[in-house]
Amino acid sequence: MEVIILRTREQATVLTARLIARALRQKPTLVLGLATGRTMERLYCLLGNMHRDERLDFSLCRTFNLDEYIGLPPESPYSYRYYMNEHLFKRVNIDLRNTHLPDGMAADIDAACRQYETQIVECGGIDIQLLGIGSDGHIGFNEPLSALRSRTRQKALTPDTIRQNASLCGGEENVPRRAVTMGVGTILDAKRCLMLVTGSTKAHILAKAVEGPITSMVTASALQLHPSCRVIVDAEAAAFLQGREYYNWIFRNEPEWSEHQDLTR
Ligand code: GLP
Repeated sequence: MEVIILRTREQATVLTARLIARALRQKPTLVLGLATGRTMERLYCLLGNMHRDERLDFSLCRTFNLDEYIGLPPESPYSYRYYMNEHLFKRVNIDLRNTHLPDGMAADIDAACRQYETQIVECGGIDIQLLGIGSDGHIGFNEPLSALRSRTRQKALTPDTIRQNASLCGGEENVPRRAVTMGVGTILDAKRCLMLVTGSTKAHILAKAVEGPITSMVTASALQLHPSCRVIVDAEAAAFLQGREYYNWIFRNEPEWSEHQDLTR
């Protein structure tokens, strides 16, 4: 795991956007795993700007989102399909037929979950999986005690997660109680993982996820097992990390980060 700390939320988000843009330029048919949440809104805005101003080309890109609520149709403003259309897909030249989210309206949810896993494999697997972190340490909707080898399936949300996501759904009463999510095992199968975490409210859980023991109580801690995982954070989120000095040294000294030193100002 590699942790990069930048001072501001904007700097951390810009670096994450650059890393995705570079991967897409290197491989136009990139299979990109996507995440939702407030943290990603600015990131998707930046990717939209890169498409507009720098001709970042999404025309051959395929995407798979981590999760979707059960029981919300795609046209519901609270569904993740709606979120993705609004925040990213409308802003870039992606072919909507190449964008995939779990089907939270399927008559047979379990069959749809198996189908989602098959679709990912048929696309050659996920090249980069973008991730945020929930306040209880979840990735996707892999709530505490999710098996670290779990695959795409339905999960009941914790009261904590329902509260955390209430503002995106116009109140707690509108947050569905269940969701379909890629499993922790599905996420760990991605070739690379890229987690973006910002803000002081995430500082405690981030320290547990990155430097604590690997435990299904904090499913983001499973990323410690991944051979190629980058965690990009701002100073507020990094507040409780023990290894801050080392992480800063890596960013300042490792050649691969030299072109991003403008972000340290
Ligand atoms: C939801 C999503 C997660 C995301 C989390 C964080 O729970 N299922 O994938 O990481 O929200 O959201 P925010 O960025 O709003 O803190």
